[in-house]
Amino acid sequence: MKARFLMCAPQHFEVAYVINPWMEGNIARGSNPAAMQQWSALLALLRHHAQVDCISAREGVPDLVFTANAGLVLESRVLLSNFRHAERRPEEAYFSQWFVEHGFEVLALPPDVYFEGAGDALFDRRLPLLWMGHGHRSDPAAAAMIASLFDVEVEPLRLVNPHFYHLDTCLCPLEGGALLYYPAAFDAVSQERIATLVPPELRIAVGAADADAFACNAVNCGRHVILNQASDNLCAALAAHGYAVHQTRLSEFMKAGGSAKCLTLKLTEARTPALALP
Ligand code: ARG
Repeated sequence: MKARFLMCAPQHFEVAYVINPWMEGNIARGSNPAAMQQWSALLALLRHHAQVDCISAREGVPDLVFTANAGLVLESRVLLSNFRHAERRPEEAYFSQWFVEHGFEVLALPPDVYFEGAGDALFDRRLPLLWMGHGHRSDPAAAAMIASLFDVEVEPLRLVNPHFYHLDTCLCPLEGGALLYYPAAFDAVSQERIATLVPPELRIAVGAADADAFACNAVNCGRHVILNQASDNLCAALAAHGYAVHQTRLSEFMKAGGSAKCLTLKLTEARTPALALP
């Protein structure tokens, strides 16, 4: 089955407020034509490998482009996000309407439990588990609720660096089972959990320079990995694992704290095969 993703064009994208450290000093510093050009290049690349649907851009919700935060999709159901920051809450109704119109069963958490969708919740591609980031945006209390709603094992990971405030900024499970991630973004217990669950030959750990260039914020489709930028070493490591790396500049979106993966939401999420956890 061809993978399908959701994106949102950046007509109304700008840095209009500060809710993460990347946005500091960047209010009204962006170029909308440059954002449009970078986004279109990402869309064109992704369309080589997948079907892409777009939700209409709307005025007053500049971060709507970051569709990864719409919710968490599994099969035909979606658990909508409850954004931590008031600035992003108006996006919830637009995403909800899109999912209803496109035949998804829409689920929600209690309104006081913050959860930022596929920004903080990523299915492993080998283990039958969902990695869930918390510490900045999503509440740890969401983990047990997601586990029971979706009948999945949830592995909470604590994020400790404010620059890596969503799980998808520092961790990317790849098809075939490899895990691309930035260890320093996690507390010691979480680093240990990852090392226990994922064997060394499947861990692709990046250093600070790659992490700062949003290399972990990658869109994976089959053996293709689309990202803003990766060092020669990282490209070689990914190639050694069988992946083809496509670099496409997303500097305008980095001013808002996002990059390739944040600008997409995978809509075709199937359950992973059940393998025993160690
Ligand atoms: N400005 C947005 C925010 O801080 C960026 C979101 C990036 N999305 C992501 N999935 N990491 O909420």
